[in-house]
Amino acid sequence: MLFCAAMTMNGPDPVLHMLHGRHTSLVLEQVPGQPPLWRHWGARLPDGVASGPGLIASRPVPTFSLDAPVPFSLFPGFGLGWYGQSALLAHRNGRDFAQGFATSNLAAEPGRLICTLDDEVAGIRVVVELALDAGTDVLTVRTRLTNRGSQPLAIQWLAAAVLPLPAGALAVRHHHGRHNREFAEAVDALGHGIWLRENRRGLTGHDGVPGAVVMMPGATEQAGTAYGAQLAWSGNSRQCIEWLDDGRYQWQLGEFLAPGEVVLAPGETLAAPDVLATCSLAGSGGVARNFHGAVRRRQAWPGGAMRPRPVLINTWEGFYFDHDPARLMALADAAAEVGIERFVLDDGWFAGRRDDRRALGDWWVDTGIYPDGLRPLADHVRRRGMEFGLWVEPEMVNPHSDLFRAYPEWALQLPGRPLATARNQLVLDLTRPAVADHLFERLSALVGDLGVAYLKWDHNRDLAPAGDAAARAAYRRQVLANWQLMDRLRAAHPQLEIESCAGGGGRIDAGMAARVQRFWASDCIDALLRIGLQRGFQQFLPPELMGAHIGAARCHTTGRVFTLGFQALVAMQGHLGVEQDITRMDSTERAKLAGWIGLYKQYRHLLHGGEVWRGTAGDGVAWHAAGNGLEWLLILYRTAVMEQRHTSPLPLPFLGTGRYDIAEIRPGETRPHQLYDGAWLAHAGLPIPPG
Ligand code: GLA
Repeated sequence: MLFCAAMTMNGPDPVLHMLHGRHTSLVLEQVPGQPPLWRHWGARLPDGVASGPGLIASRPVPTFSLDAPVPFSLFPGFGLGWYGQSALLAHRNGRDFAQGFATSNLAAEPGRLICTLDDEVAGIRVVVELALDAGTDVLTVRTRLTNRGSQPLAIQWLAAAVLPLPAGALAVRHHHGRHNREFAEAVDALGHGIWLRENRRGLTGHDGVPGAVVMMPGATEQAGTAYGAQLAWSGNSRQCIEWLDDGRYQWQLGEFLAPGEVVLAPGETLAAPDVLATCSLAGSGGVARNFHGAVRRRQAWPGGAMRPRPVLINTWEGFYFDHDPARLMALADAAAEVGIERFVLDDGWFAGRRDDRRALGDWWVDTGIYPDGLRPLADHVRRRGMEFGLWVEPEMVNPHSDLFRAYPEWALQLPGRPLATARNQLVLDLTRPAVADHLFERLSALVGDLGVAYLKWDHNRDLAPAGDAAARAAYRRQVLANWQLMDRLRAAHPQLEIESCAGGGGRIDAGMAARVQRFWASDCIDALLRIGLQRGFQQFLPPELMGAHIGAARCHTTGRVFTLGFQALVAMQGHLGVEQDITRMDSTERAKLAGWIGLYKQYRHLLHGGEVWRGTAGDGVAWHAAGNGLEWLLILYRTAVMEQRHTSPLPLPFLGTGRYDIAEIRPGETRPHQLYDGAWLAHAGLPIPPG
């Protein structure tokens, strides 16, 4: 085949709808009788670019195909000639199983397309809203489906987003995990079938954020084209990437629905969770930075803006269930002395909670341990200039608790099925208004009475069985009820901050990020393991939301021993905390800890809220850079014993062309400065000190 390209004035172009970001564009083609067709999502096109002929007109009909083929669209249907994954699987008592949508309205607003799709035969309306944020290049997809028929509509699958990936997409980078090992990175080649991930645990799960990154050929952490998508949802999820007949791939993300979980009555609407998606020409690192910007815009900080993230101390690994007010007050004294700003009292403070076998649900202070309640400790903490925070696990109940004895029917359960405990606990049915009201009142009273500034909100098990009062699947309504409870509590206490924890990092996602101010990334504080784990977290969410602690020198979960400096440099990437009994430290160690905390405070304006670049260099070196474009903090980690006699200089691709004043920093010590050209550092690299 031979082509000749010459400038020409051509016939009419198809009707195209375009959204432009800073570096990327999205193009849909409008065709009569169909949803809009995906034509482009990738590098920025010039405004008003001409496209040539329309997709259908430009392609011959292959043999053994419908004479009017159904091409890949924004919302591919089922049963009428689209043979790939459908955006919708639904039926009305076995009928209306096939759906064909046509665009009945496509409203274009600045940065936004709102596409109304109707299937008049099946009586279904779907509205897909696409908003491309020019500042971050992040596309937010919002999908709503309404049953316009006269009979109930059972929904098995509704894609929250259907995204196109170019032919040649090479690999998908995603995460799997478990308690104490979240965000384990995996890379799968994309082939000629379907890549599928599903989560049916009822909460986000220890794999990490529901989403992935797709690398195009040649893409790296720093350069090349990469795509990312994540579902803003804290429950069951499903995503698949499927090879299509024209070599492209479609990427669908949405909620995994249990059988019978969603049956829409006539006139009812199902709102799918938002999907955040982005294309970056700066590799997977660019995808991460785009996501950071978009997630920041969705956040609701008390007072409207993030304030410097306060260094906290958490009592868990230092004390576990061994609460003693005098020792905890001594801890508060020591914490204030080393510069800590928030004191979080973890599990073990409430009525009868001596171990993890009892008392969840009984949210009253244990007067056996705290005869005068928690007020004296909370006031003591505040007198030391720190905020007081408290651990709760509102959605849970132990069978061995007053609450369960009074209301056994409040636990999620299924008639005839055993009550399956995990960590000796059951899950409360938040879809019952009485349960949600009870929890709101209890939590609100605790926060109000004790002046709690911060709740660590835990959720220490998966959902099974998840039946509501009518013995129907309650997964998605449980998520919505949890979000509602958090929103209600924050509305009643606007200064309250919440940390999302679920056995460490079991509930980390952009849906939760809109209502909490911190995630506990993992119960594993092993600094070496945390380097990779935190990279996974920051692929999707910004560093200021990532809880990261300096634990005991010997890590409780892995037994490995690390220096304080190494632990501090890993924890500094995120929202810094300390989790050990620092009253046991001698004065030299405490002084060192105070030094690292001081350093974090000095640089948190760079560590949080700005750009993050990360990477690995040869010989076991990993690096993390955070900054505002003018000033950068670069953290280097040696993760393995040097194999080489010398380590090569480290190129710093994030630097501009100006001159940079570089200084090596240690607590309380300023090393000599050296001037470098940014271009030199970007390409020839920064010499790495030995050690
Ligand atoms: C979970 C959390 C820990 C701690 C314990 C308390 O495991 O992840 O940080 O709060 O619960 O029981």
